[in-house]
Amino acid sequence: MASTNFSTRATSGVKTMLTQNLIIPGARLPQQHAAIQTELDQAVAGVIRRAVFTPGQEVEAFEAEFAAYMGVKYAVGVSSGSAAVLLALKALNLQPGDEVISTPQVDISASAPVTQAGAQLVWVDIHPHSYNLDPEQLAAAVTSRTRAIVVAHMYGNPAEMQPILGIAARHNLPVIEDAALAVGATYRGQPVGSWGMLGCFSFSPGKILGAFGKAGMVVTHDAALAQQVRMWSSYGFDLASLKAIERGEIGAQFEYEAEGFNARLDELHAAVLRVKLRYLDEWVRRRRENAGLYREILADLEPEHMLLPQDTPETEPAFRVFVIRSPRRDGLMRHLAKSGIWSGLNYVPPLHLQPVYGYLGCRLGDFPQTEQVARELLCLPTIPELARQEVEKVGETIREYFLRS
Ligand SMILES: Cc1ncc(COP(=O)(O)O)c(C=O)c1O
Repeated sequence: MASTNFSTRATSGVKTMLTQNLIIPGARLPQQHAAIQTELDQAVAGVIRRAVFTPGQEVEAFEAEFAAYMGVKYAVGVSSGSAAVLLALKALNLQPGDEVISTPQVDISASAPVTQAGAQLVWVDIHPHSYNLDPEQLAAAVTSRTRAIVVAHMYGNPAEMQPILGIAARHNLPVIEDAALAVGATYRGQPVGSWGMLGCFSFSPGKILGAFGKAGMVVTHDAALAQQVRMWSSYGFDLASLKAIERGEIGAQFEYEAEGFNARLDELHAAVLRVKLRYLDEWVRRRRENAGLYREILADLEPEHMLLPQDTPETEPAFRVFVIRSPRRDGLMRHLAKSGIWSGLNYVPPLHLQPVYGYLGCRLGDFPQTEQVARELLCLPTIPELARQEVEKVGETIREYFLRS
């Protein structure tokens, strides 16, 4: 094994090179935007002309279009992916002492909201191939205090929803999907985010579908839950009184149902996202194509050098990134950086080893699969703007590292 800790010290020099010298980056937003410049300009100009910036016609239209895309009844635009997870949890009306099961191999945005919603985090290990919540571990972790399950589709790779939902149904538990990294991915042909009781999305700029700033969405088939998310994200306003105020009704009063948040989606972001949503399928198709090319180029490397992501017939990932595993990960990362190629240690170290979660008393060894994956994973760029030759260059640079050193 190349490294036994989770420090990124070994790669800190690499980071400097990455920001200064990238030939093949992890994001190319100027290029993405240049390709759809006229539509974006018109969308932004429309919002400026109307001068309505808080939720209005663009948010309403984007919510309807996103709901249709996802095949769900309701979509509520919110201010970020983190807000989406928090609002979804608040909609479930958790009480102190309630347990919510998740994994430590996620962004803190999928974890902190559990505590912020007043519940107790319970982590279980991941499946070593999907990098997502392991259904077997989940089954063993459910207690009489469990109130919800948060399943993230990490790196754009769908979690095993069927067994997870089966366990949830046996215990009558709601499942919240964190699809922040996986818009456009499907499981058994159905979009991820639409399987659980609530689905959460992030549209921050570097995501697969990115706004011009922070933005997110909660989707659900349940009208009452959608109302709760709307209420919690609108300062906790009683929604009827909010509508009356928005219509300018004489005598309309400020009535609150809860101490809520200011966390609705803005018009400008919605207008931009409406344009980009039209390109989402094409962008995801190109990400899959890039992933397919990596597979071809790297197929004959020995498993002791490097592992490719495992395909399953049930999942069509969106490939936010292409995750490989190698015991020589740190050296490979340095080699790629020297060639000007971005690679990333996304969501390393895992949360249970971060000082912020020291209060949970977890130790090294508690989640062996998570820890092994964290030692070995490396994320490669899949952005749709990469030319075929660039993906080939990344693949050939990796081959060169393993076959010549
Ligand atoms: C799994 C996961 N959930 C939630 C979020 C939060 O999204 P946002 O940055 O929009 O708050 C992220 C952000 O990267 C994420 O990776």
